[in-house]
Amino acid sequence: MSISNLSHEQVKQLLAASHEAYQYSYVPYSRFPVGAAILTEPDAQGQRQIIKGCNIENASFGLAICAERVAITKAVSEGHRKFSAMAITAKHTAPCFCCGTCLQFIREFGAEIEIVFENPDGSVLHYKIGDMLPYAFTKDDLPEFAEEAG
Ligand code: THU
Repeated sequence: MSISNLSHEQVKQLLAASHEAYQYSYVPYSRFPVGAAILTEPDAQGQRQIIKGCNIENASFGLAICAERVAITKAVSEGHRKFSAMAITAKHTAPCFCCGTCLQFIREFGAEIEIVFENPDGSVLHYKIGDMLPYAFTKDDLPEFAEEAG
């Protein structure tokens, strides 16, 4: 799919940030560095931010955390909850699609977030998170909590 709400420049910047992010991946077990970069929606001053994340593994293998969840966790803990897009790239594989856990984690913040992947030839793939995970469990399934979750 290639319909995008982003400018060419935004896509370029987001992909570049995701490539920067995997330089910091901590991957002694898989040796598979992944980078993610999330673009916030404009704030009251019209400013957007790009927040990066890399995958971080652990000697207790099951504790590894993907780049996508690190980026979202960083962003939310800095006060951001509205996101326009996320780019994901891996050092050794293109495109590098998100795992199911990360699809759910991203989907929490809206169905419209645009997910950007890169093909080996540099061409770009765009998907809405809601299309990647069409039957998600969301706050709408928990109506008594929906308002609180914001
Ligand atoms: N990984 C990510 O960080 N994101 C993905 O989209 C796929 C997988 C990480 C988890 C683990 O550190 C390594 O890649 C190999 O699975």
